[in-house]
Amino acid sequence: MIELDHLTKDYPGRTGPVRVLDDIDLVVQPGEILAVVGPSGAGKSTLAQCVNLLERPTSGSVRVNGRDLSRLSERELRVARRGIGTIFQSDGLQSRRTAAENVGLPLRYLGVTDRARKARVAELLDRVGLADRADYYPHQLSGGQRQRVGIARALALRPSVLLSDEATSGLDPETTRSITRLLKELRDDLNLSVLFITHEMDTVVDVADTVARIERGRIAEYGRLEDLLTSPESEVGEALISIDPDISTLFADSAHGVWQVSYGAADVRPDWLAHVSAEFGAHIGILQADVRVVHGAPVGWVVIQADADRACALETALRREGLAPKRLNAGASDAAAARVELEAVAS
Ligand SMILES: Nc1ncnc2c1ncn2[C@@H]1O[C@H](COP(=O)(O)OP(=O)(O)OP(=O)(O)O)[C@@H](O)[C@H]1O
Ligand SMILES: [Mg+2]
Repeated sequence: MIELDHLTKDYPGRTGPVRVLDDIDLVVQPGEILAVVGPSGAGKSTLAQCVNLLERPTSGSVRVNGRDLSRLSERELRVARRGIGTIFQSDGLQSRRTAAENVGLPLRYLGVTDRARKARVAELLDRVGLADRADYYPHQLSGGQRQRVGIARALALRPSVLLSDEATSGLDPETTRSITRLLKELRDDLNLSVLFITHEMDTVVDVADTVARIERGRIAEYGRLEDLLTSPESEVGEALISIDPDISTLFADSAHGVWQVSYGAADVRPDWLAHVSAEFGAHIGILQADVRVVHGAPVGWVVIQADADRACALETALRREGLAPKRLNAGASDAAAARVELEAVAS
């Protein structure tokens, strides 16, 4: 379990300290994958480095399995770090060592006997699906296979926490999915707390239990994946559900209102649209729709259009079905109303 409490990190800058992480509170439970997203320079990697105490926090605490790492001496910290596995974008493998030797390195440093090490390495390579590649050198492996060797090595000392910083970036979608599938298996089989940093939104939907969005060192959004996906206010949800932004521009000046509706399938009737249509009593067009399976349950979103003059009636009908519509265009009638208001103010 990872617990960050009021974590703050300053780096020295030319004109004084620069705050890179500001008052971060996060918890990653055992058996949970937290995806951390945010623009370049937001502080994601710094966050990971604070969790394994490669960087000391300026203030606040970092607890791993209940132990406050920031209070440990360098020697105690070296021991505590064994409980934290880390994987990066570059696999960090030693090119002159085979896959098996790379995986065995952390055990060798600890002085584990040859026999015990061989057995553990075989078990780890089997775990990541590379039992038949033990004697291959990194250059003889694919990018995804090298990343798996990196994961096996990160697991060598039986950590309870796994940090992954852009570990799937640069891999093709199929290989990325095979890595995220492996991480989810490890989460479940080993009850790992996984901090998964990525900028790929598709990967977030695939892998995350919870999501934190970091913006200029602060947590801008934090919640369960399905809650963010179905929240009309969530920027993460917005980015994840990939609604074509041009749709609202296309209808900016039209007599049609355009709405986005996101929902968890468990929270609405399967035929909610038919019910809304019947109550609304006029044509509703579907511009875009999609369903993703999140944690075994469908999450859907749909972009609909209807007569803007009857916006209120439509929104009421949607709310009655337990849905929270979000208007995507201002609509011609709204624009006209705004113009009338403006003219009234001006005169
Ligand atoms: N060792 C350092 N000394 C000074 N400033 C640093 C140091 N490491 C990072 N920074 C600064 O901290 C900020 C956050 O960097 P960080 O690497 O955590 O961002 P990131 O979110 O991981 O970005 P990216 O998505 O590009 O990897 C940046 O402005 C960076 O310049
Ligand atoms: Mg980074």
